[in-house]
Amino acid sequence: MNVTLRGRTGHFRTVSFDAARNSVQLIEQRLLPHAFKIIGTKNFRETAQAITDMVVRGAGAIGATAAYGLAQGARAFRGSDLKKFSAHTDLVFKMLAEARPTAVDPVNAMNDVRRKMLAGKTVAERQFLALAAAEEFANEDARHCEEIGRHGAKLIRNGMNILTHCNAGWLAFVDTGSATAPMYAAQAQGKKFHVFCDETRPRSQGATLTAWELAQQNISHQIIADNAAGHLMQRGEIDLVIVGSDRVLGRTGEVANKIGTYTKAVLAARHKIPFYVAIPLSTIDWNLKRGFDIPIEEREESEVLGAWGIISNPKSKIHNSKLNQRAYIRVANPTSSARNPGFDVTPAELITGIITPVGIFKPKELWKKLHPRITAGM
Ligand code: MRU
Repeated sequence: MNVTLRGRTGHFRTVSFDAARNSVQLIEQRLLPHAFKIIGTKNFRETAQAITDMVVRGAGAIGATAAYGLAQGARAFRGSDLKKFSAHTDLVFKMLAEARPTAVDPVNAMNDVRRKMLAGKTVAERQFLALAAAEEFANEDARHCEEIGRHGAKLIRNGMNILTHCNAGWLAFVDTGSATAPMYAAQAQGKKFHVFCDETRPRSQGATLTAWELAQQNISHQIIADNAAGHLMQRGEIDLVIVGSDRVLGRTGEVANKIGTYTKAVLAARHKIPFYVAIPLSTIDWNLKRGFDIPIEEREESEVLGAWGIISNPKSKIHNSKLNQRAYIRVANPTSSARNPGFDVTPAELITGIITPVGIFKPKELWKKLHPRITAGM
């Protein structure tokens, strides 16, 4: 996506690879929107840590990061013994897969890389194929998001108010985003609309990342507190909901997404507001049989007990070295603890449609209509 910084506009991908340095390049998302910085990981362990620590986050983005991380690990192997090489890449795969458990994209992406890599007969060939496959996954992720935009734009009419949750924008993918793709495509078609970004506590990806992306793109938007959506729906101020997902079950149509999505889907159903989920194909899990079995990440309680932000007081003339630095503020009662599930699962019947790169499906149609096309190679 294009980013304008101090009056200069450039195109950036969320994730890319520096082959000469064997390094995964990532936009440091924890600093946004206060600072824009790209960091490089030195090895696959650092890449896995960057996923866990949410330097990079969002299903497609961590999918591409894991794919590049697997290639990075494969390329770091020295020697020509194929058995030892396989054992090494298995270890790399495991570490990257365990970095964050809920999104299925990293596992799907790495399975792709591993399958394509096996066509090589020597270690050197497999190393070469691993990087080519990771690049292919990243390019496909960007392409899929563009296609989601093409299909989803028809849901957006002039004058609509759209609600989105968390960040399924370009920072959550390699480029363009899933939930935001229809918005960009509708904007390009000249449609006028307004977006409400759920703040999305505890990490506030809606207030920090989605709002920053929409501002960069000059899309009319406002941040709302997580508890405000019901009120706005009741007053007829929300016409459409579009969210992303970290894992959609192809067999049942259930959708895992950022905590709070289920609540919004219940509210949307109560107010008869269409509720759509936008995903690339790498977000579909064709194996799991029930949403209850989706691993739900439990994160540190500090995320709920406080908040990260920037200390700034534009009115103050007093020099303070802490101003404009990112800081953690404890909000909650000092002796209380917290529970912090990162995701929830929305049942199929609350979802109007799943916007994919190959069309919009009812959640329960995925298995009958899309799975045969996938197994036949589209
Ligand atoms: O914890 P995060 O920020 O990695 O969560 C991912 C998300 O931002 C949302 O769940 C999003 O809607 C799906 S990722 C495209």
